Amino acid sequence: MIVFLSNVARNTVVYKTLSIIPNTCNLPVASMAVLSSSLSFIFICFIFRSFYISNAIVPVNETFHYVNQGDFGIYDSEYAPTYRPLPPFTSPFQFCFYNTTPNAYTLALRMGTRRDQTLMRWVWEANRGKPVRENATFTLGSDGNLILADADGRIVWQTNTANKGVVGFAILSNGNVVLRNSAGNFVWQSFDSPTDTLLVGQTLRVRGGPTKLVSRESITNNVNGAYSFVVEPKRLALYYKNNMRYWSTSFTDLDKDNLNIVNATLDIAETEYEENNFHIVRCGLDKFSSTVFPYLNLGTVLYNSSLSYLRLGIDGNLRLYTYRANVRGNAWTLLYTLFDRRMNENGKIFEDECQLPNRCGKFGLCEDSQCVGCPTPNGVFAWSKDCDTKSPGCKTSGFRYYELKGVDHFTVKHTTGDGPVKKSDCESKCTKDCKCMGYFYHTDKSRCWIAYELKTLTRVGNSTSLAYIKTPVS
Ligand SMILES: *[C@@H]1O[C@H](CO)[C@@H](O)[C@H](O)[C@H]1NC(C)=O
Ligand SMILES: *[C@@H]1O[C@H](CO)[C@@H](O)[C@H](O)[C@H]1NC(C)=O
Ligand SMILES: *[C@@H]1O[C@H](CO)[C@@H](O)[C@H](O)[C@H]1NC(C)=O
Ligand SMILES: *[C@@H]1O[C@H](CO)[C@@H](O)[C@H](O)[C@H]1NC(C)=O
Ligand SMILES: *[C@@H]1O[C@H](CO)[C@@H](O)[C@H](O)[C@H]1NC(C)=O
Repeated sequence: MIVFLSNVARNTVVYKTLSIIPNTCNLPVASMAVLSSSLSFIFICFIFRSFYISNAIVPVNETFHYVNQGDFGIYDSEYAPTYRPLPPFTSPFQFCFYNTTPNAYTLALRMGTRRDQTLMRWVWEANRGKPVRENATFTLGSDGNLILADADGRIVWQTNTANKGVVGFAILSNGNVVLRNSAGNFVWQSFDSPTDTLLVGQTLRVRGGPTKLVSRESITNNVNGAYSFVVEPKRLALYYKNNMRYWSTSFTDLDKDNLNIVNATLDIAETEYEENNFHIVRCGLDKFSSTVFPYLNLGTVLYNSSLSYLRLGIDGNLRLYTYRANVRGNAWTLLYTLFDRRMNENGKIFEDECQLPNRCGKFGLCEDSQCVGCPTPNGVFAWSKDCDTKSPGCKTSGFRYYELKGVDHFTVKHTTGDGPVKKSDCESKCTKDCKCMGYFYHTDKSRCWIAYELKTLTRVGNSTSLAYIKTPVS
C-alpha cells in the first residue's frame, strides 16, 4: 500500500478541480454563483446538459436486470453461504447474491474460480447491514443508475448515477466495478466504497474519499463490526469501537519533514534481487520526497501477485492474501498477518496477538499470544472464555480498586495516555467517571489511561506498568 504524502503547505491547495463543465452544472446554485455568474457559463451548461441528457442512454445490450431467484451455486465460498452467481463475470471476479442467514442476501463480488477448487472470497459488497430477500433485483437501467432493490421494489442501494452520461458497466481485471461515460472516465467505481477489503490499486484517502475499512460483525451476521482500519494525516491506525486505538504506524520521517499522508493505496512493486524477480506487496508511504520512503511491507512473493487483497478481519487483525490464477487446489496464500504468533528469523515477534482487543475475551490476561489467566480481586485464576469483571456500579462507596502489576491495556502501546499526572489524579478521574472500569498507570513516566472496556490485558513483565480495576465491595 503506497501512501502519498504532501507538505502541509501543499495541503492548502484545493485538490478538487472543476475542469469538467457538465459536472459543475450539477452543483448547487450557491456554489455555481461562486464559480461564475456569467451568462456564457450558464449557456455552456445548458448546451452541455441537453447534450448529455439526449445522450444519457445506456445502449440496450449494456443494460441488465437480474432477479435473485433460482438454483444455488455448489462450490465453496467464504462464510459458507448459499449463493446465486449472476452473469457479470471477469475472471476471477463474479457478481453473486449470497446469504449466511436465510433470506438475507448481500449483493457481492466474489474472487476465485471453480477451477481453483479453493474457497472463493468476497472482496466487495453493495449492501452490508441492509440485506435483501428472494426476488430482489439488480438492475442497470437505461438512465445509467445501478440499483439494488428488494422484492417489493424498495431501493436498498444505488450508485446515484442517473443521467450522468453512463454508457457502460464493467468489472475490470483488478476487480474494480465501474460505470463509464463515453469518454471512458469512471462516473462511479466500486473502489470508492470498500467495506473490509482493499484490492490492489484500491485507495483510502485522508480527505475526499473512503478513509477506512470496517470489519464484519461475524461469519453469519454481515453488519459493521467493532474494528476499523483508518488512514489519518500522520499514521495508519486500527481502532476498536472508533476511539480505542490498538495499533498504529509510526513514521518518524513524517514529523521530521512535516509531511502528511494524502492517500494510501495497496500496491505491488517489482524489485530485482540477483536472478529472481520479487514482487513486494506494501502498504506505506511514497514518492513526495526522495528522502522519505516509509511503507508497511506486507511481504514478498516470487510470482505476480496483482490479484491480492488486504482484509480487516472479524477479529480485528489485518491480513493480506494473494491469489494465483490458473493453478489447481492451492490458489490462495496468506502472505501477511499483522498480529501473529509466529516469529521472524531474528526470533522477534512482529506484533503480538495479545494486542488484539478481544484475543482473551472480556477480561483476560495475555502473554506471548496466549491467554494465560483470569485476573480477580483474589489473584489470577486459570483463563477461560468467560473471564469477566463484575459491574462496579456508579456509587463511589460501592466499589474499590484492586491492583495488577506488570500489565498493560490494549490501548497503551499505541497511545500516549494523559500525563504526566499523579496516580491519585488518574484514580480520581476514573472514580468520578461511572463508565470507567479501571485505570492503567505507568509509574516511570507518570502516564494515565482510563479504560471503558478492559478486554485483553497484556502481561509486560515490567513493574512500572500498573492496573487498577474497579470491583464492587460486597
Ligand atoms: C494519491 O495522492 C497523490 C498526491 O495527491 C495523487 O497524485 C494520486 O493520484 C492519488 N492517488 C489516488 C489513487 O487518488
Ligand atoms: C454492446 O454493443 C456494442 C456495439 O455493438 C459492443 O461494442 C459492446 O461490446 C456490446 N456490449 C456488450 C456488453 O455486449
Ligand atoms: C419470486 O417471484 C416468483 C415470480 O416471478 C414467484 O413465483 C415466487 O413465489 C417468488 N418467490 C418468493 C420467495 O416470493
Ligand atoms: C501482473 O498481472 C496483471 C494482471 O493480470 C498484469 O496487468 C500485470 O501486467 C502483471 N505484471 C507483471 C509484472 O507481470
Ligand atoms: C520497563 O519500562 C521502562 C520504561 O518504559 C523501560 O525502559 C524498560 O525497558 C522496561 N522493562 C522491561 C523489562 O520491559
